[in-house]
This record gives sequence, structure tokens and C-alpha cells, in this order.
Amino acid sequence: MERAVVQITLFGLLLALATTLPHKDDWDIYSFHINSTVTSRYATTVITSRVANRMDESKEIEFQVRIPKNAFISKFRMFIDGQVYDGVVKGKEKAQQQYTEAVSRGETAGLVSSVGRTLEEFKTSVTVAAHKKVTFELTYEELLKRRLGKYELQIHARPMQPVKDFKVDVYFNEKAGINFIEVKGGLSTKALANAITKTHVDKQAWVYFYPTEDQQKTCDSCGEQGMNGDLVIVYDVNRNPSLGDIKKSGRFFVHHFAPSNLASIPKNVVFVIDQSGSMHGRKMQQTRIALIHILSDLAEDDHFGLITFDSSIFHWKRELVQANMENLESAKKFSREIVERGSTDINKAVLEGARMLNAHPREGSASMLILLTDGDPTSGETNLEVIQSNVRGAIADKFPLYCLGFGFDVNFEFLEKMSLQSNGVARRIYEDSDADLQLKGFYEEVATPLLTDVTMLYNGGTNLTQTNFSQYYNGSEIVVAGQITDNDIETFTPQVVAISSNKRVRFSDTNATVESNGPVSDSHIQRVWAYLTVKQLLEKELVLSGPEKENAKKEAFELSLKYSFVTPLTSMVVTKPQGENSDVLHKPKEGEETEGRSHSSVGRQPMFTQNTQLRTSMIRQYSPPAHPGIFGAGLAGDPGVRRKVSRYQVNIVGAAGVGRGRDPDWDLGSILVSEPSAILPTIVSFLATDVPLSHRFVLKTENLSLPLCFDVTGDVRLKLLHHPNRELSVNGELDSVENGGFRRIVIHLKNDLLVEIDAKEIIVREGQTLTRHVGPDPITAGSLTVIRRDKEIDVAAGDTRMIIVIHERNGEEFLWPVLRQRPLDNNVSGILALKPAVYEEVQQSPHTILKIKDQEIDVTRASAADYSIVSLLTHDCWLMSAESALQSHLDDFIITQL
Ligand SMILES: *[C@@H]1O[C@H](CO)[C@@H](O)[C@H](O)[C@H]1NC(C)=O
Ligand SMILES: *[C@@H]1O[C@H](CO)[C@@H](O)[C@H](O)[C@H]1NC(C)=O
Ligand SMILES: *[C@@H]1O[C@H](CO)[C@@H](O)[C@H](O)[C@H]1NC(C)=O
Ligand SMILES: *[C@@H]1O[C@H](CO)[C@@H](O)[C@H](O)[C@H]1NC(C)=O
Ligand SMILES: *[C@@H]1O[C@H](CO)[C@@H](O)[C@H](O)[C@H]1NC(C)=O
Ligand SMILES: *[C@@H]1O[C@H](CO)[C@@H](O)[C@H](O)[C@H]1NC(C)=O
Ligand SMILES: *[C@@H]1O[C@H](CO)[C@@H](O)[C@H](O)[C@H]1NC(C)=O
Repeated sequence: MERAVVQITLFGLLLALATTLPHKDDWDIYSFHINSTVTSRYATTVITSRVANRMDESKEIEFQVRIPKNAFISKFRMFIDGQVYDGVVKGKEKAQQQYTEAVSRGETAGLVSSVGRTLEEFKTSVTVAAHKKVTFELTYEELLKRRLGKYELQIHARPMQPVKDFKVDVYFNEKAGINFIEVKGGLSTKALANAITKTHVDKQAWVYFYPTEDQQKTCDSCGEQGMNGDLVIVYDVNRNPSLGDIKKSGRFFVHHFAPSNLASIPKNVVFVIDQSGSMHGRKMQQTRIALIHILSDLAEDDHFGLITFDSSIFHWKRELVQANMENLESAKKFSREIVERGSTDINKAVLEGARMLNAHPREGSASMLILLTDGDPTSGETNLEVIQSNVRGAIADKFPLYCLGFGFDVNFEFLEKMSLQSNGVARRIYEDSDADLQLKGFYEEVATPLLTDVTMLYNGGTNLTQTNFSQYYNGSEIVVAGQITDNDIETFTPQVVAISSNKRVRFSDTNATVESNGPVSDSHIQRVWAYLTVKQLLEKELVLSGPEKENAKKEAFELSLKYSFVTPLTSMVVTKPQGENSDVLHKPKEGEETEGRSHSSVGRQPMFTQNTQLRTSMIRQYSPPAHPGIFGAGLAGDPGVRRKVSRYQVNIVGAAGVGRGRDPDWDLGSILVSEPSAILPTIVSFLATDVPLSHRFVLKTENLSLPLCFDVTGDVRLKLLHHPNRELSVNGELDSVENGGFRRIVIHLKNDLLVEIDAKEIIVREGQTLTRHVGPDPITAGSLTVIRRDKEIDVAAGDTRMIIVIHERNGEEFLWPVLRQRPLDNNVSGILALKPAVYEEVQQSPHTILKIKDQEIDVTRASAADYSIVSLLTHDCWLMSAESALQSHLDDFIITQL
């Protein structure tokens, strides 16, 4: 079956007006899926978009999505009329040539890249014949970076129309165990919050986002064009306090090192602040605000210095001083009085900062230099290479230099190179209402040094990524990947040596060493290694010169080709098999080509080509509009962006996840059914007394305490969901003979619509008409949509969305209902709409007694399977009678008629 999709995204509100919008009668995105799998913090995301051309003539159909900047595209495919068109990663020269040819044929070629905070835009289009469909499938990969104690997975969703079959599935598999997981971002608020469900069981977590078509129109910032925003999943993992987390497969390993149980090291920090004329207005104002906040956060044993500069240098004090009350007050006063004027002498200012630090050696401390500037050097030394060389010489690897480039008039590459040469990083500060928070956030990332001179040692390891780090900060993480010499896991011994305050410390832990294979495959770890190696080679290439530079470039290029990564050195060419026409997709370098940048190097680098059959393609960097409420949460990777965390209230039904973390705001209600006999061989003693014809239901709790469970015996018909306002009822019939689970589920909508679902077919009775469906084509009846996918049936009606998972046991299939979007009305009832359980444990031995409301109940610890997840999970629960668990008679949920 050929299918198709288009997603259109825009990179600014103004540009939206200039872009052609899809019209329902032209083409239609009938399905849009995002599937992200995160294993050991390496995320692989697949966006699949299916579009139908509804016209009587062929039509150009666009696919446009936004992906995180940090990611590499690794695959792009189109399916048209039974044919697959695969993208191939090639060297840039080839792409360049195709681009040039297109231009010389007089075909239009697009413009390149605006720069945004965290996203890039990928866009392509294809001509689709009348009444045909196209499927676009894009895969990208990224290693999530830990900042301020958490990882963030950002998923951007903006189909340019409401899409019936829209869903986001995210799966996390972290062997170390997931400590907490939260969903944030503009799409997690208000009406859409009910469309998010989350299940977290120890090492695994699932996040689902299933908004109905109605909701895609009514949410914040949604309209006729559907949703527009981010889902940001924030989490952290548990860790071994010593050596951290090492995964090995046959040939490769990856080591995550992030100890936090260490004392912080006092720091010596010098802030070098640009006060040139271009900082005028809001930028200067925000800098003053941020500086005052940062000064307030300095610890008493920190020493600091502060200089501002334009064409001259202004000291607050000539030497570093202790961050005591008096000094801080005086420095804040100085900060409040910074005024902008004059030109920019970066050279002199940074050298002076370096001098101050060099003149202030302090045993057992960590020094750092932080430069904030918004422009190129315009006075004093202006030759960029000379400045870099001067700075490098003055710092001489003794402390890191962090460069913060404010706005887009800075030469970011210059700052980046200068920082990398001195063990630091450069960050862009976006001119926006939250710039002060970005500045403060960056500072917070480096505010707590825990170790200096960190050397990661791997006896028996080779082809290692970076192993020396000048400083390690609390909340961050050091990741090293490499190959294991001769595949010899026996001799492989990792070790970390570093300096903590005055002491030399060594981290080694023979126990934590080898955690091989398991669910983490060799190719997975290998890709992490390749990703990290390419990222670091690209940075190295920037800093090096001569043959070394060429070598780094060549190596990065070859690895990009081998692992099919679209990097700044490679391009993806999408070709139609029978034709010579192709599309070329490039990844821009960070900071490259800013739209509207006044002195950009126009024409420096054409970024994509164009041709007749497949029109232009490109990756655009994307700049979100200044809308903190909507986009604010999507700014993964930028410090200081304070996100408004909206707690969502979801009653997850059918998701029986239980973990032992302490995060109270997820994992709300849930229910699940299972047949105990077939589930856990380890609970045999319990099963011996149990009848195989019973079904176990689990009722989740609001916090992470153990859920409750109860058994229901026999061929029972249950009221699953009753939504009076919409006249929607869902009932199910348990199958106690063959399998457990549900045999049939029947949906009633208003008086005249009835949908009967079993594992084989879907029967729709609408008034007098009866239709049977077995295929994947979406069924629409009244306000109800039913879509059959591979292992599940998706049912949406108004503000309710449910998945009926199809499980199989002993060759027999059975059904499993899960609520993916809970109706907003609070008078919905039924077993799927149960509120999460609340109880108190009043006695633990000789047997456990729980108190629910005022009732004390004897319980037994038992096990249950979670059928709400396609891959089966089992977990523990407190077993009690149905009446006790439900706090009402089971009869209230039993019906006679489906
Ligand atoms: C998502 O992708 C993973 C890995 O490719 C796959 O195993 C899984 O079935 C996919 N999930 C869905 C819902 O398509
Ligand atoms: C480091 O971070 C952890 C977790 O946020 C915290 O518990 C610990 O106190 C921090 N350490 C220092 C030295 O600030
Ligand atoms: C290191 O990698 C290179 C290519 O990337 C490979 O040729 C070489 O064999 C590797 N070294 C070892 C010891 O595996
Ligand atoms: C890393 O540091 C160690 C000692 O601190 C040093 O011997 C080694 O040469 C350094 N390696 C690199 C690649 O800089
Ligand atoms: C290593 O394992 C041994 C035995 O299992 C245990 O006694 C010891 O505490 C472990 N060491 C660490 C550092 O976890
Ligand atoms: C969960 O909530 C109940 C009632 O509010 C409380 O008694 C119990 O201690 C909580 N459990 C956890 C693990 O926080
Ligand atoms: C259910 O609640 C909604 C508001 O939440 C209300 O408008 C409606 O009348 C209620 N329906 C019934 C049958 O109580």
C-alpha cells in the first residue's frame, strides 16, 4: 500500500504568511507518526508522514519537519506507488556539483538557513500523480546531553493541518534505571495535557502523545492548521556513585561518568563583559540583570573578578577578590552602572582577564574565564587569528575559556574556535526576552566544579573519544566511547583519575565494569561511538590547522559516510531510481548563515540543489518566535531558559507502570487486566490457589507506591468507559476460556452508531447499514474514527482517544483497551476512568494491612502483567478484593448487554 504524508513547518510567524498552505482538497496528511527510541541516552527518532494527493492532476507535495540541531539525519526514504526511494549520504562536493548544475540550468535554488536555538528545518518535496499517495520517512539520531542534572528529548510537532492519525510514541530503555521522567513543552499544556500518558517502570518508560483531531484545533497555538509546538521529555537516570555506567558489547564500549557525591571546588572566575555601543538597550539591560543574579549565586569561598570593555578596559577591581558580602555589593553596584559605548577590543579584554586569573593562583580551586560579547573585534587587535593565538598563549591550558556570543552579529565560529582552543565551549545567547535567563543558565552549568584535570583511562581500549577534561561540573556528564582491543573484555579496565579540591582521586570499580550485551546491541554502542567521534572530530577540525586539520576532516567525513550521518561534511542525495534527478540535503554548521544577518557571507555556501522532479530540499535552522509560553519549553540545550512546568493531569488507564522513584507527578491512575496463570512462573504458590479463569486488574496509585490489584473471575462484561456528554459508551467482554483479556469491545455513540471490535474485524452499524472492515484504511463514522494498525486499533471520538492493543498468546489473539486521552469532563465513569488509588500502609508484618479511606484491608503481595504496553511487563501489586480496590461494588461495573 502506498501512503503519503506531508508536514509543513514554518520558521517564523511572518514567513508563515508567505508559505503556501495545504488545502484539504489539494492534498491531505492522513497520518503522521513520530517514534522515538532512547537507549542509554542515545535517541533514534523516526518521523513518518503519509500524504494523499486528492487532485485530478499531479501535485507537488512537501515534507517539512524540524529536528534538534544536535542530531544527525541518518536515513530518509520515500515510498511512492510501491517504489522506495532511499537517500544516500555522499560527500559534499558531489552535492555541490549538482547544485551548481541546477543553477546553471536556470532553476531556482533556495536560500540557506536561519539560525535558531535548538532546531533545524528539514524540507523536501516530491511530485505525486493524481490520487496517489506518498510516505516520507525521516530518521535522525542524537546522544542526549546531560545539563543541570537532566537529559531532554525534544520532539517538535507541527503538521500543517489537524491529522486524524497523529501520534507520538517514545520509549526509554535505561539499564541504570530511570530516576524521574517528566513531560514538558508547549504541547503538554491545557487541552493537550490529557493526550499525554506516561508509564515508568524502573528501567523503562513510555510516553505517548495521542491528541484527537478536535484537540489539535483547540489547543493553545493550535488552529485550522493544527498543532505547533514541542514535547520535551526530561529525565535522569540512577547512577553508580563511583565509576558510573559502562556498557560494553563485543567490540565497543560507552562510559557515562557523572558522580555527584563530591564536594564542590571553590572557583576563581573572571567575567569579561562587552559594553560596546552595540550592546545598547535590552541586551545591556539583560546582561546587568544576569550579572547581578550570578554574583548573588557565588559561594563565599569563590574568588571573582569583573571587567567591562569597549575600546578600553574598565576594572571593577584590578585583582580577584573573595566573594564576601561587601565585595559582592560593590560588584553589583558596578554592574548596575555599566553603560554601553564605543567599539570592541576583545583581544585586550580577554588578555586582561587571563592576566588576572594567572596572577591569582590558588591551591585546590578551579579557575575559569567567561567572556560575553555581541560583536566582532573592532578596535585594538582585530585580526581574528592573532587574537586566538594571543588568547591561547595567555591561557596556556591552565583554565577553560567560555565564550557567550550574544545575538547574531557575533562571529560565532571565531568564538567557538577560541573557546575550544582553551578547553571551553562557546554558547550563543539568543536575543530574546529570556536572554538574562540564558546567561544565568549557562553560568549555573559551570557553577559547581567537582573535579579538575579529569583523565579517563581505559586499559585495553582503543580509538577512544576525548579522554581528558579540564573540569567536571555537577549536573553534567562525561561520556567516553571507544573500541575494545581484540574484543578482549577480560583485560578491559576503565578507571578515572582526577583532582578533587587538593586531593588526587581515583575512581575504579571492578564490579561496575562489564555490563555487556543485554538489550543494548553492538551496533547501538557502535553508533554512539561513531556519533561522538564525528562530533569531536568536527570540533577538532575547527581548532587544528595544516595536515592535522585535513586528517580530522577526512576521518570525520569517512565515518559520516560509513554510518550514514548527514553532517556539515556530507549531504544526503535522494534520487529517483530511473531518473537523474535528485535532491540534496545538507546540514548547516552551527551558527552558519543567518537570515537577516547584516554582514553574512552571502553566497558562501549553497546549501541545497533543486531539480525538476524533486524540488528543493534543505535543512534550515529554525528560530522559534519569542513566545515563552509556547516555545519556551522546547529549548533543549540552552541554559537559562526557565521553563514553565505545567503539571498535567492524566489518568493513565491501562498502563500499570510502577517504579520506586519519588516523583509524584506522574503515573496516575491505571488499570490492567491479566490472567495470572500465564504470567509469572515465579508466583506459582499463589497461582496454585488461583483459578485460571480469572483476570487480574491493576489500579495504579498517584505516587510511585505499589499499585493495587484484584481479580475478576468468569465471562464478565464490563463497562469500560461511559462519557455521558458525548453519549459515548465503551464496553468489553472478558474471555475467560481461551486467553484472558478481552474478546470483544463494543462502542456506542449516540443512538445510532455501534462499533464492534474483535481481533479479526471491525463491524460498524450505522442506522440500518452494517459494514465490516479488516484492512488498515481508517474508518470514519459520525465523529468516531477507528484506525487499525499492526498490533493495535486506535479509536478516537471528540475528546477521547483509546488504543486497543492486540496481544497474542498460544496463537490466540485478545484485546486490551488503554485510554490514551482522557475526556475532560469529570463525570465520565467506567473501569478505564477510575481515579488513581490512594492508600496508607498501616501494618507490614505479620501481614500487610492497607488503609483506604477508613477501611483497613489485608493484602498479599502479588504480580500482574501489564498489557497496556505491547511488549509485556510484569510488576508487583497489593492484591485485594475487587470491592476493596474499587471502593464500590464490582456490580457497578458489570453490564449485561454489550
Ligand atoms: C518504534 O521504533 C522501534 C525501533 O525501530 C520499533 O521497535 C517500534 O515498534 C516502533 N514503535 C511504533 C509504535 O511504531
Ligand atoms: C550536586 O548535585 C546533586 C544533585 O542535584 C546534589 O544533591 C549535590 O548536593 C550537588 N553537589 C554539590 C557539591 O553542590
Ligand atoms: C580504529 O579505527 C580505525 C578506523 O576508524 C580502524 O582502522 C582501526 O582498526 C581501529 N583500531 C583498532 C585498534 O581497532
Ligand atoms: C591526558 O592527560 C594525561 C595526564 O593528565 C596526559 O598524560 C595525556 O597526554 C593527556 N592526553 C591527551 C590526549 O591530551
Ligand atoms: C563489588 O562486589 C562485591 C561482591 O559482590 C561487594 O562486596 C562490593 O561491595 C562491590 N564493590 C563495589 C564498589 O560496589
Ligand atoms: C503515596 O501517597 C500516600 C498517601 O498520600 C502516602 O501515604 C504514601 O507514603 C505515598 N507513597 C510514596 C512512595 O510517596
Ligand atoms: C457532565 O459534566 C459536564 C461538565 O463537566 C456537564 O456539562 C454535563 O452536563 C454533565 N453530564 C451529566 C450527564 O451529568
